Amino acid sequence: ARILVLHGPNLNLLGRREPGIYGLTTLADIHAAMESRAKVDGVLLESFQSNHEGELIDRVQAAGTEGVDFIIINPAAYTHTSVGIRDALSGVDIPFVEVHLSNIHAREPFRHHSYFSDKAVGVICGLGAQGYQLALEFALSRLRSRG
Ligand code: DQA
Repeated sequence: ARILVLHGPNLNLLGRREPGIYGLTTLADIHAAMESRAKVDGVLLESFQSNHEGELIDRVQAAGTEGVDFIIINPAAYTHTSVGIRDALSGVDIPFVEVHLSNIHAREPFRHHSYFSDKAVGVICGLGAQGYQLALEFALSRLRSRG
């Protein structure tokens, strides 16, 4: 089985970027923790970060032909703007969980709306880097029950 983890713009700066909001954990830390957990279940986990909307769309489209079973995505700022990434996810029809480090509902009003949440299997926000691990546990249990 294969899981793809997608990270949108500025998440390459995690650990340095507004640590009071996003924490001190880096993207490399998050990837390492997720990869080792997935390995226990014999699942291949790949991560991809981009600051470019089109690259994220291309990666989602590629997932559709690569046999990716599940996507975990933090679209970052594109959460609130991108019909294109939303349409790509609908187009490939791969189930996904949406993750945000911060509680977007407790922040500026423009962060309260997501173009992804109504298409997501579920949404985790406000739990920091741990949110990714929890999303992964969910994805792994779903893949196990699918057999
Ligand atoms: C974010 C929340 C977004 O509003 C913001 O633009 C981000 C990160 C989060 O993980 O909390 O870049 O998705």
